[in-house]
Amino acid sequence: MQITMIGTGYVGLVSGACFADFGHRVTCVDKDAGKIERLHQNIMPIYEPGLDALVADNVAAGRLTFTTDTASAVADADVIFIAVGTPSRRGDGHADLSYVYAAVREVAAAVKKPVVIVNKSTVPVGTGDEVERIVREVAPDADICVVSNPEFLREGAAIDDFKRPDRIVVGTEDARAREVMSEVYRPLFINQSPLMFTARRSSELIKYAANAFLAVKITFINEMADLCEAVGANVQDVSRGIGLDNRIGSKFLHAGPGYGGSCFPKDTLALLKTAEDFEAPVKIVEATVAVNDSRKRAMGRKIVKAMGGEIRGKTVALLGLTFKPNTDDMRDSPAIAIAQTLIDEGAHVRAYDPEGIEQAKLVMKDVEFATDAYSCAEGASALVIVTEWNEFRALDLARMKSILAEPVLVDLRNIYTPAEARRIGLEYTSVGRG
Ligand SMILES: NC(=O)c1ccc[n+]([C@@H]2O[C@H](COP(=O)([O-])OP(=O)(O)OC[C@H]3O[C@@H](n4cnc5c(N)ncnc54)[C@H](O)[C@@H]3O)[C@@H](O)[C@H]2O)c1
Repeated sequence: MQITMIGTGYVGLVSGACFADFGHRVTCVDKDAGKIERLHQNIMPIYEPGLDALVADNVAAGRLTFTTDTASAVADADVIFIAVGTPSRRGDGHADLSYVYAAVREVAAAVKKPVVIVNKSTVPVGTGDEVERIVREVAPDADICVVSNPEFLREGAAIDDFKRPDRIVVGTEDARAREVMSEVYRPLFINQSPLMFTARRSSELIKYAANAFLAVKITFINEMADLCEAVGANVQDVSRGIGLDNRIGSKFLHAGPGYGGSCFPKDTLALLKTAEDFEAPVKIVEATVAVNDSRKRAMGRKIVKAMGGEIRGKTVALLGLTFKPNTDDMRDSPAIAIAQTLIDEGAHVRAYDPEGIEQAKLVMKDVEFATDAYSCAEGASALVIVTEWNEFRALDLARMKSILAEPVLVDLRNIYTPAEARRIGLEYTSVGRG
């Protein structure tokens, strides 16, 4: 199959490289000429484990190419995936679909043969209908099917998720499109990954419902963590105790500083807007969004409290800035609000992240960046673990204590135990542990 991927970001690049690895011929298109230029030199525009080797192998095999020229890239395509961004629209929280619609116009104007346009971007219910309308307007005689195929990969484990998905959801009721999509994903479902066909609107909603459910689950355990602190219980035991129940499951039950990232915050908001427009409120998601929003600054206040209540003029060292480990993605990371709260209280914030510093510099002003965990901690009045990168799991805590100005460790990811921190003489604060 000849596949064209419009948008070469976290989703487009990973999906494109994986499709090429399955044996399809793939052209990845991006408007960002710098990104495409770097890809021509095998320099990855994002940090994702294993991606550079996967891209290099498939480029060398002649199955994966990159371009900025949409028209030439779609001319021979059997399938065109749209994988452009759908950020929150400024002001109202609706999904901003302008990139999707612009991409569809460009594609529809350039197709030369029957083709399936697949929306892989996360888009609100009904977007497929509007895409179809645009296609008919731009190319009334073209033979084009519009399909929904949301993506569920997680940054940091994206290649594995793409190659071994729990399920593949395809929204179409068109027989030819079903055949084409079956062919695209054949290598996966012969490997037992269920390929699920639905109506297009159901497929679009599945993506939002899945993300909202996971956001609710995280927020639920975060509120349980606060309750644990109030009543003297341990949230890790509570989490294990409920997670071993198969009906609940143990994933997404780790208490922490609140969810962030490029998907949950914007997708929960967009779902609320859809629910509002259709007069079918989803109050549980409304509460989740509100609770999570207030949690990030609450984590800043937790740090202030752990430092004795007055932090003006003191240095706070933050370890981990990305919204989760193994990515450089800083979009809506809790670290941003936490650092701002500390700065607002008069502290100097020094931070270190293994892969996220370049992105962090774009969104975190007034923060000093360090080159490793120990130089970050030097002379600080508190060390705060914000993101649980592996390299923070086995810190030399005795060395940390010796270089800190005050022996305060705030562990927002519960990766240490109170006993081991206290043995070394660190004043230890975690999330939801009594
Ligand atoms: N990042 C994730 O973990 C993830 C997971 C599942 C779904 N999604 C969804 O996938 C979509 C893409 O997300 P992302 O994180 O990959 O975004 P991204 O911002 O990393 O990448 C989008 C890319 O599209 C390019 N682009 C925009 N308009 C274009 C056009 N007309 N032609 C060619 N290129 C164009 C941009 O330059 C950018 O490089 C979003 O809807 C997102 O919600 C993301």
